[in-house]
Amino acid sequence: MSETSADAPGVVGVLGAGRAGTAFARALLKAGFEVDIAGTRPPKALRHHLKIYAPGARAVDADEVADRARGQERPLVILAVPQEDLDEMDTHWADGCVMVDATNAWHHEILPTWLQQAVDAGAPTSTAVAARFPGARTVKALNHIAHADFDEDVHPELPLDQRRAAGAAGDVDADRGLVMGMLDRIGFDPVSVGALADSRIMEPDGPLFDRRLRREDVLRRTG
Ligand SMILES: NC(=O)c1ccc[n+]([C@@H]2O[C@H](COP(=O)([O-])OP(=O)(O)OC[C@H]3O[C@@H](n4cnc5c(N)ncnc54)[C@H](OP(=O)(O)O)[C@@H]3O)[C@@H](O)[C@H]2O)c1
Repeated sequence: MSETSADAPGVVGVLGAGRAGTAFARALLKAGFEVDIAGTRPPKALRHHLKIYAPGARAVDADEVADRARGQERPLVILAVPQEDLDEMDTHWADGCVMVDATNAWHHEILPTWLQQAVDAGAPTSTAVAARFPGARTVKALNHIAHADFDEDVHPELPLDQRRAAGAAGDVDADRGLVMGMLDRIGFDPVSVGALADSRIMEPDGPLFDRRLRREDVLRRTG
């Protein structure tokens, strides 16, 4: 299983500028990353929202949210759009990037057919999301931490064993390591939970979801 990667990108693209996307952006900015962020609104309309919820983040159009990240050696982007909206998205938006799937299926949400089929088959949603965006390399992370916790629970100044644990699941060690490096830099204790197929435990009905856990608690739950 991979360990945290020492290098991490300077610019992260975040698609989705709602509660989750702006919370991720705040934590990234605090850790010294630059953030390009987009929603459905044009950048001009998004700027006012960002002044309040993610000051310092750069508002861009959705079709350019990965551009600056892609210019780096190890491009990293975050998907923070409701799953019910995934059909609306360009399936190539994150091509060439490691894409953090930070999304969740909520019971009331009407999911795209391809995603509902995966849920009905008992698969983790991340595997269907990964198949939907085949040009990106998907790592599940950040989805199990509530947006309101980001301001309180990120502590880069603390040693790892005193931080909140944050899971990462991915099929490629180097990609999962890149995401774990980002989680470390923003102030979590990154814990690998294995491959995407193992990411059910991070989902809303799983034992990692919305719980303030330490590394040993996560490892106990991953079996
Ligand atoms: N809320 C949390 O605590 C939390 C924590 C972790 C993970 N998550 C997950 O993150 C995802 C987003 O949740 P949220 O609470 O942030 O939702 P939200 O507050 O409703 O925000 C959704 C964002 O997605 C954007 N969006 C929708 N369709 C889009 C499209 N086709 N292209 C580009 N952007 C699009 C919206 O754009 P506009 O701004 O233009 O409307 C908005 O910025 C969900 O899957 C959720 O489960 C949420």
